[in-house]
Amino acid sequence: MSNVSYFKTMPVSGPRSYPRRIAVVGDTGLTYNTTSTIGHLMSNSPDLVLLVGDVSYANLYLTNGTGADCYSCSFANTPIHETYQPRWDYWGRFMQPLVSKVPIMVVEGNHELELQAGNMTFAAYSSRFAFPSEESESLSTFYYSFNAGGIHFIMLGAYIDYNKSGDQYKWLERDLAKVDRKVTPWLVATWHPPWYSTYKAHYREAECMKVAMEELLYKNSVDLVFSGHVHAYERSNRVYNYTLDPCGPVYITVGDGGNREKMAIPHADEPAGRFCWDRQPDYSALRETSFGHGILEVKNETHALWSCGVKGKGVLIGTMHNALKEDNREYFVARMPFHAYKSLFFLLKEEEGRLKEGSGDVDVFTLTNIQHLFGPDRKRGLFYLIIEYL
Ligand SMILES: [Fe+2]
Repeated sequence: MSNVSYFKTMPVSGPRSYPRRIAVVGDTGLTYNTTSTIGHLMSNSPDLVLLVGDVSYANLYLTNGTGADCYSCSFANTPIHETYQPRWDYWGRFMQPLVSKVPIMVVEGNHELELQAGNMTFAAYSSRFAFPSEESESLSTFYYSFNAGGIHFIMLGAYIDYNKSGDQYKWLERDLAKVDRKVTPWLVATWHPPWYSTYKAHYREAECMKVAMEELLYKNSVDLVFSGHVHAYERSNRVYNYTLDPCGPVYITVGDGGNREKMAIPHADEPAGRFCWDRQPDYSALRETSFGHGILEVKNETHALWSCGVKGKGVLIGTMHNALKEDNREYFVARMPFHAYKSLFFLLKEEEGRLKEGSGDVDVFTLTNIQHLFGPDRKRGLFYLIIEYL
């Protein structure tokens, strides 16, 4: 008989009720880098973990347990490749100290597809995790929604039908129609392959999904989107249809949890991988190749703090409280549209009390002034940005 484990449920839904910290991680696998990432993640004591796909990488292991960078290449002449299921057990045992205490919500990545005999797919993914499918009326393990306090999370499937005529899209329309922003002021969406990534790896791979669904999410004022897949970090500016838009979501890629594949380093706009431009696009705010995770802290109806480690000089993420000493985190303050921003000054004082304070006049906290006060110091990798909603 196993030990009894306990976990704390999410706070009741409401505009002033939020989990303290939400950890976001993707593309974990099980490597030394995974060990480092999950160790740092646990030191941040999250109340909820969001896993944005590509979990165990069992499909990159031969049936004798040996790792292969390309399983299908190793068995090029067979249409179906049995994945090495014990890797799921290894991964589960490794994660047990965390997930036996903290709720984890997961969405499927391409490595969970695991095509097996009888055209079975996603068997391990769908059976090893619990999904609020009935509760969110999706009846699917591939897309569902849930509330965590005043945040409504939408988890979408990128490897099933996402077109407007399909079940997922119709469910998404129904789910979004039911969202009451007075109860859940924040709307956060998640799926595995990013729509807005400027790395050469997987560049515009999810374009068809974006074409099908972007307008619906935009019209429903999604605040933040988390994805993985690209093994690096990137945060966008608010964007819609590749154009800066103050009402568009901020897209964040955190596909850098660990895993046995290579990191994404070249950008699409560099000479070796040039597609359309020769510079970082305007919608790309910050990109950094490193392993790590991020922490989302929604403070109230109007403010949330996102922090994510950037490797910089080789130091990975530390705890939230010593991170400022490490000079290698990105801090991003996201604000809801159409709200006053008077509390911003106090938020910064509360969170970053050790930093130089502003003049006290909240109106000075424009982007320019924030950069003046705190420094857009790219060498230190520490940023303070505010998106203005006018
Ligand atoms: Fe992936």
